Amino acid sequence: MKLSNKVAVVTGAASGMGKAIAELYAKEGAKVIAADLNMDGTKAVVETITKNGGTAIAVQSNVAKLEDIENMIDTAVKEFGTLDILVNNAGIMDGFEPVGDINDDRWDLIFDINTKSVMRAMRKAIPIFLEKGKGVIINVASTGGLNGAHAGAAYGASKHAVVGLTKNTGYMYANKGIRCNAIAPGGVKTNIAASMKNINEFGMGRTQAVHAVMPRMGEADEIAAVALFLALDESSFVNGTVLVADGGWTAAF
Ligand SMILES: NC(=O)c1ccc[n+]([C@@H]2O[C@H](COP(=O)([O-])OP(=O)(O)OC[C@H]3O[C@@H](n4cnc5c(N)ncnc54)[C@H](O)[C@@H]3O)[C@@H](O)[C@H]2O)c1
Repeated sequence: MKLSNKVAVVTGAASGMGKAIAELYAKEGAKVIAADLNMDGTKAVVETITKNGGTAIAVQSNVAKLEDIENMIDTAVKEFGTLDILVNNAGIMDGFEPVGDINDDRWDLIFDINTKSVMRAMRKAIPIFLEKGKGVIINVASTGGLNGAHAGAAYGASKHAVVGLTKNTGYMYANKGIRCNAIAPGGVKTNIAASMKNINEFGMGRTQAVHAVMPRMGEADEIAAVALFLALDESSFVNGTVLVADGGWTAAF
Protein backbone atom coordinates (compact mmCIF):
# COMPACT_ATOMS: atom_id res chain seq x y z
CA MET A 1 0.00 0.00 0.00
CA LYS A 2 1.31 3.39 -1.00
CA LEU A 3 0.13 5.49 1.96
CA SER A 4 0.71 3.13 4.90
CA ASN A 5 1.05 4.97 8.22
CA LYS A 6 0.11 8.31 6.65
CA VAL A 7 -2.58 10.51 8.15
CA ALA A 8 -4.69 12.55 5.74
CA VAL A 9 -7.37 15.19 6.15
CA VAL A 10 -9.72 15.51 3.16
CA THR A 11 -12.34 18.27 3.06
CA GLY A 12 -15.54 17.95 1.07
CA ALA A 13 -15.23 14.20 1.58
CA ALA A 14 -18.95 13.39 1.41
CA SER A 15 -19.28 13.65 -2.34
CA GLY A 16 -17.58 13.80 -5.71
CA MET A 17 -13.83 14.15 -5.81
CA GLY A 18 -13.38 14.43 -2.03
CA LYS A 19 -15.19 11.12 -1.56
CA ALA A 20 -13.06 9.48 -4.27
CA ILE A 21 -9.86 10.87 -2.73
CA ALA A 22 -10.81 9.78 0.81
CA GLU A 23 -11.67 6.26 -0.41
CA LEU A 24 -8.50 5.89 -2.51
CA TYR A 25 -6.24 7.20 0.25
CA ALA A 26 -7.82 4.77 2.73
CA LYS A 27 -7.45 1.91 0.24
CA GLU A 28 -3.77 2.78 0.05
CA GLY A 29 -3.45 2.52 3.84
CA ALA A 30 -3.86 6.12 4.98
CA LYS A 31 -5.83 6.95 8.10
CA VAL A 32 -8.33 9.50 6.86
CA ILE A 33 -10.21 12.34 8.51
CA ALA A 34 -13.22 12.75 6.21
CA ALA A 35 -14.48 16.30 6.79
CA ASP A 36 -17.64 17.76 5.32
CA LEU A 37 -20.65 19.92 6.06
CA ASN A 38 -22.86 17.00 5.08
CA MET A 39 -22.54 14.57 7.98
CA ASP A 40 -24.85 11.88 6.56
CA GLY A 41 -22.78 11.70 3.38
CA THR A 42 -19.51 11.70 5.30
CA LYS A 43 -20.68 8.91 7.60
CA ALA A 44 -21.65 6.83 4.55
CA VAL A 45 -18.16 7.33 3.07
CA VAL A 46 -16.53 6.33 6.37
CA GLU A 47 -18.78 3.25 6.53
CA THR A 48 -17.67 2.17 3.04
CA ILE A 49 -14.02 2.72 3.94
CA THR A 50 -14.34 0.76 7.18
CA LYS A 51 -16.24 -2.06 5.46
CA ASN A 52 -13.34 -2.37 3.02
CA GLY A 53 -10.83 -2.67 5.87
CA GLY A 54 -9.67 0.95 5.91
CA THR A 55 -9.52 3.52 8.69
CA ALA A 56 -11.44 6.79 8.64
CA ILE A 57 -13.27 9.16 10.97
CA ALA A 58 -16.10 11.46 9.93
CA VAL A 59 -15.77 15.02 11.21
CA GLN A 60 -18.53 17.54 10.68
CA SER A 61 -16.85 20.63 9.33
CA ASN A 62 -18.08 23.79 7.71
CA VAL A 63 -14.85 25.02 6.16
CA ALA A 64 -16.19 28.58 6.25
CA LYS A 65 -15.81 28.44 10.05
CA LEU A 66 -12.39 28.80 11.65
CA GLU A 67 -13.26 26.61 14.64
CA ASP A 68 -14.38 23.75 12.36
CA ILE A 69 -11.15 23.90 10.35
CA GLU A 70 -9.06 23.86 13.50
CA ASN A 71 -11.13 21.02 14.93
CA MET A 72 -10.66 18.78 11.88
CA ILE A 73 -6.85 19.13 12.06
CA ASP A 74 -6.83 18.79 15.86
CA THR A 75 -8.91 15.61 15.49
CA ALA A 76 -6.31 14.14 13.11
CA VAL A 77 -3.58 14.76 15.69
CA LYS A 78 -5.71 13.59 18.62
CA GLU A 79 -7.03 10.40 17.00
CA PHE A 80 -4.18 9.44 14.66
CA GLY A 81 -1.19 11.17 16.29
CA THR A 82 -0.15 13.46 13.44
CA LEU A 83 -0.94 14.92 10.02
CA ASP A 84 0.93 14.06 6.80
CA ILE A 85 -1.39 15.06 3.96
CA LEU A 86 -3.91 17.91 3.78
CA VAL A 87 -6.35 17.93 0.87
CA ASN A 88 -8.34 21.15 0.60
CA ASN A 89 -11.10 20.00 -1.72
CA ALA A 90 -14.41 21.42 -0.40
CA GLY A 91 -15.84 24.00 -2.74
CA ILE A 92 -18.99 25.42 -4.28
CA MET A 93 -19.90 26.95 -7.63
CA ASP A 94 -21.36 30.37 -8.20
CA GLY A 95 -24.29 31.13 -10.52
CA PHE A 96 -22.11 32.17 -13.49
CA GLU A 97 -22.60 35.87 -12.61
CA PRO A 98 -20.41 38.34 -14.47
CA VAL A 99 -18.97 41.06 -12.24
CA GLY A 100 -21.80 43.46 -13.01
CA ASP A 101 -24.30 41.10 -11.38
CA ILE A 102 -22.45 39.87 -8.27
CA ASN A 103 -23.90 40.54 -4.86
CA ASP A 104 -21.58 40.89 -1.89
CA ASP A 105 -23.09 38.03 0.10
CA ARG A 106 -22.52 35.52 -2.68
CA TRP A 107 -18.97 36.82 -3.27
CA ASP A 108 -18.13 36.50 0.44
CA LEU A 109 -19.61 32.99 0.71
CA ILE A 110 -17.70 31.74 -2.34
CA PHE A 111 -14.44 33.21 -1.06
CA ASP A 112 -14.99 31.94 2.50
CA ILE A 113 -15.55 28.38 1.28
CA ASN A 114 -13.30 28.17 -1.78
CA THR A 115 -10.37 30.37 -0.74
CA LYS A 116 -10.18 31.55 2.88
CA SER A 117 -10.70 27.99 4.12
CA VAL A 118 -7.66 26.87 2.13
CA MET A 119 -5.48 29.54 3.75
CA ARG A 120 -6.82 28.70 7.22
CA ALA A 121 -6.33 24.94 6.90
CA MET A 122 -2.81 25.39 5.54
CA ARG A 123 -2.00 27.87 8.33
CA LYS A 124 -3.13 25.32 10.90
CA ALA A 125 -1.21 22.44 9.27
CA ILE A 126 2.09 24.24 8.67
CA PRO A 127 3.41 24.11 12.29
CA ILE A 128 2.82 20.33 12.33
CA PHE A 129 4.64 19.91 9.02
CA LEU A 130 7.50 22.22 10.08
CA GLU A 131 8.05 20.19 13.23
CA LYS A 132 8.18 16.94 11.24
CA GLY A 133 10.19 18.48 8.40
CA LYS A 134 7.67 16.86 6.05
CA GLY A 135 4.17 17.42 4.77
CA VAL A 136 2.03 17.49 1.66
CA ILE A 137 -0.71 19.94 0.76
CA ILE A 138 -3.02 19.41 -2.20
CA ASN A 139 -5.52 22.13 -3.08
CA VAL A 140 -8.33 21.35 -5.49
CA ALA A 141 -8.51 24.46 -7.65
CA SER A 142 -10.09 24.30 -11.12
CA THR A 143 -9.37 25.04 -14.75
CA GLY A 144 -11.53 28.05 -13.79
CA GLY A 145 -8.53 29.10 -11.66
CA LEU A 146 -6.41 29.37 -14.79
CA ASN A 147 -8.93 30.61 -17.35
CA GLY A 148 -11.62 33.26 -17.42
CA ALA A 149 -14.49 31.50 -19.11
CA HIS A 150 -15.41 28.43 -17.05
CA ALA A 151 -17.81 29.87 -14.44
CA GLY A 152 -18.78 33.25 -13.01
CA ALA A 153 -16.46 36.01 -11.80
CA ALA A 154 -16.57 35.01 -8.12
CA TYR A 155 -15.81 31.32 -8.70
CA GLY A 156 -13.05 32.15 -11.20
CA ALA A 157 -11.47 34.71 -8.88
CA SER A 158 -11.72 32.38 -5.86
CA LYS A 159 -9.91 29.60 -7.72
CA HIS A 160 -7.28 31.94 -9.22
CA ALA A 161 -6.58 32.96 -5.61
CA VAL A 162 -6.16 29.29 -4.63
CA VAL A 163 -3.61 28.92 -7.43
CA GLY A 164 -1.73 31.99 -6.13
CA LEU A 165 -1.82 30.69 -2.55
CA THR A 166 -0.56 27.31 -3.72
CA LYS A 167 2.40 28.78 -5.60
CA ASN A 168 3.36 31.06 -2.73
CA THR A 169 3.12 28.26 -0.16
CA GLY A 170 5.06 25.82 -2.33
CA TYR A 171 7.84 28.36 -2.73
CA MET A 172 7.95 29.62 0.86
CA TYR A 173 8.40 26.19 2.44
CA ALA A 174 10.34 24.53 -0.39
CA ASN A 175 13.38 23.95 1.83
CA LYS A 176 11.36 22.74 4.80
CA GLY A 177 10.20 19.39 3.43
CA ILE A 178 6.73 20.71 2.66
CA ARG A 179 5.20 20.46 -0.82
CA CYS A 180 2.08 22.34 -1.86
CA ASN A 181 0.42 21.74 -5.22
CA ALA A 182 -2.97 22.30 -6.78
CA ILE A 183 -5.06 20.17 -9.08
CA ALA A 184 -7.04 21.98 -11.76
CA PRO A 185 -9.80 19.62 -12.81
CA GLY A 186 -11.83 20.33 -15.91
CA GLY A 187 -15.48 19.25 -15.98
CA VAL A 188 -15.96 16.24 -13.67
CA LYS A 189 -19.13 14.22 -12.96
CA THR A 190 -19.95 15.10 -9.34
CA ASN A 191 -22.77 16.78 -7.41
CA ILE A 192 -21.31 20.28 -7.78
CA ALA A 193 -24.29 21.45 -9.87
CA ALA A 194 -26.36 21.31 -6.67
CA SER A 195 -24.39 24.34 -5.44
CA MET A 196 -25.26 26.41 -8.52
CA LYS A 197 -27.99 28.72 -7.28
CA ASN A 198 -29.85 31.45 -9.22
CA ILE A 199 -28.15 30.83 -12.54
CA ASN A 200 -27.28 34.00 -14.42
CA GLU A 201 -28.46 33.34 -17.97
CA PHE A 202 -26.15 35.92 -19.55
CA GLY A 203 -23.08 34.66 -17.70
CA MET A 204 -23.85 31.01 -18.34
CA GLY A 205 -24.46 31.77 -22.01
CA ARG A 206 -21.03 33.42 -22.28
CA THR A 207 -19.34 30.25 -20.97
CA GLN A 208 -21.24 27.92 -23.26
CA ALA A 209 -18.93 28.28 -26.26
CA VAL A 210 -16.03 27.14 -24.08
CA HIS A 211 -17.96 24.28 -22.46
CA ALA A 212 -18.99 23.11 -25.92
CA VAL A 213 -15.41 22.10 -26.80
CA MET A 214 -14.90 19.94 -23.69
CA PRO A 215 -13.82 16.53 -25.02
CA ARG A 216 -15.61 14.69 -22.19
CA MET A 217 -16.51 14.94 -18.52
CA GLY A 218 -14.05 13.27 -16.17
CA GLU A 219 -14.74 10.77 -13.40
CA ALA A 220 -14.01 11.63 -9.76
CA ASP A 221 -11.67 8.62 -9.62
CA GLU A 222 -9.50 10.19 -12.32
CA ILE A 223 -8.92 13.19 -10.07
CA ALA A 224 -8.32 10.97 -7.03
CA ALA A 225 -5.52 9.27 -8.99
CA VAL A 226 -3.85 12.66 -9.46
CA ALA A 227 -4.31 13.44 -5.75
CA LEU A 228 -2.62 10.12 -4.93
CA PHE A 229 0.36 10.91 -7.17
CA LEU A 230 0.80 14.33 -5.54
CA ALA A 231 0.68 12.76 -2.06
CA LEU A 232 3.47 10.28 -2.79
CA ASP A 233 7.24 10.72 -2.55
CA GLU A 234 7.31 9.80 -6.26
CA SER A 235 6.22 13.40 -6.89
CA SER A 236 8.98 14.80 -4.63
CA PHE A 237 10.17 17.33 -7.25
CA VAL A 238 6.65 18.58 -8.01
CA ASN A 239 6.02 21.64 -5.83
CA GLY A 240 4.27 25.00 -6.05
CA THR A 241 2.53 24.13 -9.27
CA VAL A 242 -0.83 23.26 -10.77
CA LEU A 243 -1.54 19.91 -12.33
CA VAL A 244 -4.29 20.24 -14.92
CA ALA A 245 -6.52 17.17 -15.29
CA ASP A 246 -9.11 18.02 -17.91
CA GLY A 247 -8.87 15.38 -20.64
CA GLY A 248 -7.27 17.92 -22.97
CA TRP A 249 -10.04 20.51 -22.72
CA THR A 250 -7.91 23.59 -22.08
CA ALA A 251 -5.28 22.46 -24.56
CA ALA A 252 -7.68 23.97 -27.09
CA PHE A 253 -6.98 27.54 -25.98
N1 LIG B 1 -17.03 19.03 -10.68
C1 LIG B 1 -16.32 19.81 -11.45
O1 LIG B 1 -16.55 19.89 -12.66
C2 LIG B 1 -15.19 20.62 -10.86
C3 LIG B 1 -14.25 21.17 -11.74
C4 LIG B 1 -13.18 21.86 -11.22
C5 LIG B 1 -13.04 22.00 -9.86
N2 LIG B 1 -13.96 21.49 -9.03
C6 LIG B 1 -13.73 21.65 -7.58
O2 LIG B 1 -13.64 20.36 -7.01
C7 LIG B 1 -13.93 20.45 -5.61
C8 LIG B 1 -14.87 19.31 -5.24
O3 LIG B 1 -16.11 19.50 -5.87
P1 LIG B 1 -16.99 18.33 -6.51
O4 LIG B 1 -17.08 18.61 -7.95
O5 LIG B 1 -16.49 17.01 -6.05
O6 LIG B 1 -18.41 18.72 -5.90
P2 LIG B 1 -19.43 17.99 -4.91
O7 LIG B 1 -20.52 18.98 -4.73
O8 LIG B 1 -19.78 16.64 -5.42
O9 LIG B 1 -18.59 17.84 -3.57
C9 LIG B 1 -18.25 18.95 -2.80
C10 LIG B 1 -18.34 18.61 -1.33
O10 LIG B 1 -17.97 19.78 -0.59
C11 LIG B 1 -18.86 19.90 0.50
N3 LIG B 1 -18.96 21.28 0.95
C12 LIG B 1 -19.56 22.32 0.34
N4 LIG B 1 -19.48 23.41 1.11
C13 LIG B 1 -18.82 23.04 2.24
C14 LIG B 1 -18.44 23.72 3.42
N5 LIG B 1 -18.76 25.00 3.63
N6 LIG B 1 -17.75 23.04 4.37
C15 LIG B 1 -17.45 21.73 4.19
N7 LIG B 1 -17.80 21.03 3.10
C16 LIG B 1 -18.48 21.69 2.14
C17 LIG B 1 -20.20 19.39 -0.02
O11 LIG B 1 -21.06 19.00 1.06
C18 LIG B 1 -19.77 18.23 -0.88
O12 LIG B 1 -19.74 17.03 -0.16
C19 LIG B 1 -14.50 21.85 -5.39
O13 LIG B 1 -13.51 22.67 -4.81
C20 LIG B 1 -14.83 22.31 -6.80
O14 LIG B 1 -14.78 23.71 -6.91
C21 LIG B 1 -15.05 20.81 -9.50
